[in-house]
Amino acid sequence: MSERAVGLLPADRVWITLTERAMGAMERAYAPYSGFRVGAALLAADGSVTEGCNVENAAYPATICAERAAVAAAVTRGVRSFRAIVIATEADSPASPCGTCRQVLMEFAPELEVLSVTRGGAEARWTMAELLPHAFTPTSLGRR
Ligand code: THU
Repeated sequence: MSERAVGLLPADRVWITLTERAMGAMERAYAPYSGFRVGAALLAADGSVTEGCNVENAAYPATICAERAAVAAAVTRGVRSFRAIVIATEADSPASPCGTCRQVLMEFAPELEVLSVTRGGAEARWTMAELLPHAFTPTSLGRR
């Protein structure tokens, strides 16, 4: 029986792949203003992985975070069901997603597993329920 069929977490090797993909995306971040590079690798229910990186702008609020870049790229491919995301940074301790990214992740994946990793090997893991309790969701609007 596949791990998906029994609803288990992604296997260790999947986390390793996601971490490598997130680190690779981080290398491509466009972060000339903050110098804070972020990469994300989003695992979909179909097994596909979509990467994202932060894309900053001279008009600072126009910046797109890595997590939202990954969600937008996946949705553009027609993928909307997600299982896990790995976020990679070069910070000393694992970075948790910003509030806006939490909201965007929650829209598509209230059951998402979130792993944050650093280049130095530190890790932190959360569920979406931990990151955004009492969320406003499509259900709140009476949709879905
Ligand atoms: N950033 C992300 O990409 N994801 C987050 O969840 C937090 C912040 C980016 C935005 C900006 O380019 C840089 O990190 C510093 O805030």
